[in-house]
Amino acid sequence: MSVESEQDLAALKAIGKIVADTLRLLREQVAPGVTTARLDQIARRYLERNGARPAPELTYNYPGATCISVNDEAAHGVPGKRRLQPGDVVKLDVSAEKGGYFADAAITVGVPPVAKATAELIAAARRARDAGISAAVAGQPLSAIGDAAETVAREGGFVIIEELPGHGLGRGLHETPSVPSHRDPTASQPLTDGLVITVEPHLTTGSGALAEAPDGWTLRTRNRARVAAFEHTIVVTRSRPIVVTG
Ligand code: MF3
Ligand code: CO
Repeated sequence: MSVESEQDLAALKAIGKIVADTLRLLREQVAPGVTTARLDQIARRYLERNGARPAPELTYNYPGATCISVNDEAAHGVPGKRRLQPGDVVKLDVSAEKGGYFADAAITVGVPPVAKATAELIAAARRARDAGISAAVAGQPLSAIGDAAETVAREGGFVIIEELPGHGLGRGLHETPSVPSHRDPTASQPLTDGLVITVEPHLTTGSGALAEAPDGWTLRTRNRARVAAFEHTIVVTRSRPIVVTG
């Protein structure tokens, strides 16, 4: 969607804050021995108490309120009996709807103690996301986002997973346009004032190719390399974007 009114912006910010607060709550609960199902339950309750609905369930009948992807699971990890272990890389991805508006955000948390290489992967993923956001200015090509994110990833010796782009959203979870997280000169259309999109580069090592797990949802790296990702929902403007899930 494109923001057309103060009401649009206020409603997006309302669901954006609930999503951001849910992630803060989950991050505090990440510890050895905790199951991903327990984290999902905490998120579900928080969303419910705040009048929000989990978007994956609402949109795709996904079997969970949140996506929790550990280590080589790149995205769409289904919460379950898995217990977190020291050194794990945990992607917490929360998307939700309230009053017909959607927001989507993700963070990566390491379960201490985290290996140095893993900490570097996580830090680079956050920097890549933030560089992508800074490049999202109305009038610039859509490809500016992936150019910026990939530059940061490469500096750290990492690659961007091409199969996991960002996306438009707002009145639904996934809308046009698809937002390449990697360098993609074909994404030449100009970003427009008010456009609502996610910026969500997923960083890893090796080829970045993915395979679907037998559960039909979880996407793993084929080479079993670990993945880190950060995501915000933003509104494009003529200057700095508005970070809805900040
Ligand atoms: N934030 C995730 C994404 O944009 C939400 C996925 S919903 C799922 O890909 F149902 F597809 F898992
Ligand atoms: Co998303």
